[in-house]
Amino acid sequence: MSKAKILIQLDGDAQASVFDAVVAVDSGVDQLLRHDGVTPEGVRELVHGAMFTRGPKHLHHTAIFIGGSNVAAGEALLEAVVACFFGPMRVSVMMDASGANTTAAAAVLAAARHVDLSGAKVTVLAATGPVGRRAARLLAREGAEVRIGSRSGERAGQVSEAISAQLEGARLTACETSTPEQTFAAVEDAEVIIAAGAAGVELLSEQDRQRCKSLRVAIDLNAVPPAGLGGVAVTAAALDQGGVICYGAIGVGGDKMKIHKAAIRRLYESNDQVLDAEQIFQIGRDLEK
Ligand SMILES: NC(=O)c1ccc[n+]([C@@H]2O[C@H](COP(=O)([O-])OP(=O)(O)OC[C@H]3O[C@@H](n4cnc5c(N)ncnc54)[C@H](OP(=O)(O)O)[C@@H]3O)[C@@H](O)[C@H]2O)c1
Repeated sequence: MSKAKILIQLDGDAQASVFDAVVAVDSGVDQLLRHDGVTPEGVRELVHGAMFTRGPKHLHHTAIFIGGSNVAAGEALLEAVVACFFGPMRVSVMMDASGANTTAAAAVLAAARHVDLSGAKVTVLAATGPVGRRAARLLAREGAEVRIGSRSGERAGQVSEAISAQLEGARLTACETSTPEQTFAAVEDAEVIIAAGAAGVELLSEQDRQRCKSLRVAIDLNAVPPAGLGGVAVTAAALDQGGVICYGAIGVGGDKMKIHKAAIRRLYESNDQVLDAEQIFQIGRDLEK
């Protein structure tokens, strides 16, 4: 008899995410077990419950999803979950707190459809948030020359150092973007701009964006008006706006949802997967084939 696909949803928030639950069901999960207020200290019993109930041959029918609104908390939960595994006693796990991994993967894949990222000049504006950091890391891994934008030169430098420590040979430049002039200097010769700023904040005006003569792809992840990249329509999905291919947050969101569902389905192919940004990006890339 084939076993039911069980997903154990671990969420550090007071109420486990309904969004994550609905996507799990839509991805074909048979049984969803939702846990809220989960802490790294409390994760062991939950993971043991997943590991010790089905024999090793059937462990790939059980998987763990780590969500919640706090990405740092999600990272800590992922570390605690993986630390519980030993030998063949493990289940596959995916981390996508606040949608950061799936969103960053979808944004970088959108850029890669139009520009060979290897050697490309790419600026990530507001690269210090969870989505921007991951997008910058994925871009650097693809061989892009990445500018890390932040209102604080110090924070940009910290992100740049953190990525360099994880990724040998990453080509990164930290850029302070606290004035329109500094922001323009960071994007002036970019072929791709990804705006990963907080909701409802314009990072680059439409006039300045139009002055970027090398620009080929503009991707804005902020769905709340005003747009993060002035003039980029929130629903744009590979829309040619004046010779620049544009994606808005809803345009990227469609791909993000496809990647999220494919990643959940992938969890049940074996019991030894740990899906973080890079693995989720690869799943997105596989969908493009
Ligand atoms: N389409 C989707 O499905 C989807 C999914 C998840 C997230 N998102 C969107 O993706 C974007 C990035 O998400 P996130 O969670 O990484 O964002 P976040 O942490 O809220 O903000 C990212 C960065 O924006 C900058 N920022 C914050 N307030 C600002 C202000 N008033 N003016 C200028 N810059 C400001 C900060 O960088 P500095 O302080 O270093 O400048 C911050 O680190 C958000 O707009 C989010 O809504 C979209």
